[in-house]
Amino acid sequence: MRIRVIGAPIDLGADRRGVDIGPRAIRYAGLIDQLHQLGHSVNDVGDINIPLPENQPTGNPRLKYLEPITKLAEELADSVSEAVRAQEFPLILGGDHSMSLGSISGVAREHKDVGVIWVDAHADFNVEDTTPSGNIHGMILAALAGLGDERLVNIGGWAPKIDKNKIVIVGARDLDTGEQKLLREHNIHVFTMSDLDRRGISAVMQQAIEIAGANNGPIHLSLDMDSLDPHEAPGVGTPVRGGLSYREAHFAMEMLAESQRVISMDVVEVNSILDRENTTAQLAVELTLSAMGKKIL
Ligand code: ARG
Ligand code: MN
Ligand code: MN
Ligand code: MN
Repeated sequence: MRIRVIGAPIDLGADRRGVDIGPRAIRYAGLIDQLHQLGHSVNDVGDINIPLPENQPTGNPRLKYLEPITKLAEELADSVSEAVRAQEFPLILGGDHSMSLGSISGVAREHKDVGVIWVDAHADFNVEDTTPSGNIHGMILAALAGLGDERLVNIGGWAPKIDKNKIVIVGARDLDTGEQKLLREHNIHVFTMSDLDRRGISAVMQQAIEIAGANNGPIHLSLDMDSLDPHEAPGVGTPVRGGLSYREAHFAMEMLAESQRVISMDVVEVNSILDRENTTAQLAVELTLSAMGKKIL
């Protein structure tokens, strides 16, 4: 496969500084070499240009940095849809999860039927009225589903990007009250950590793939590294105890690779300042390799 790597070192969508180092840290952890070793060809186009928060007005405290975030989403969407048109697999490195507004908008422009598997401790399904923080990384999945501020919803001039029935969240364990209500109202498929405990990662992922890839449609995988337990992934901005184990996460990625339905992927929320010896970035590389077809035997 030909993979196009695009860095999106954005941290305007989150409170903690440090995720803007993510793409570098993931490259330092050997991503490109290891993708080559796996037999892929790689076109690393570098990072998109992100303004510093210091030079940006915060704006509405319920939608912090809305303006630069939407501008970047437009740029990233163009760059990702170009990769798809060039028949390359877009692999987008974050940055905080707000970058997925651009990456998924770009993929959806080329594949209107794409479903999303959102592997995350959070649902990122807030809108401006439910957000406890005003941080836009917590609103991205809702925006892609057509909910929330219209400037987020209408990236590229159309909406919604993803059919609500084809959204699946895996690994959730920290949902805000208003967010829970929205998820219920819109019947979003959420597999919480309790579901994983009860049914196991294999059954849950199988069902997730069926839902997101309904009618043999393509799947975008959005991997938030805070889905993992903080013991495995200490370097994330918003850690939550009780997450995916190392093996659960690998097996989930292996199943996605086996399904042959994944056409694009994000890896987000690696926060190098909070990391220990680049452990979280290394794990991000390992998981990406599993998702791209690496097997034990
Ligand atoms: N639910 C919280 C909020 O909306 C946390 C979101 C964390 N999101 C993330 N992509 N790490 O502020
Ligand atoms: Mn997230
Ligand atoms: Mn998260
Ligand atoms: Mn359904």
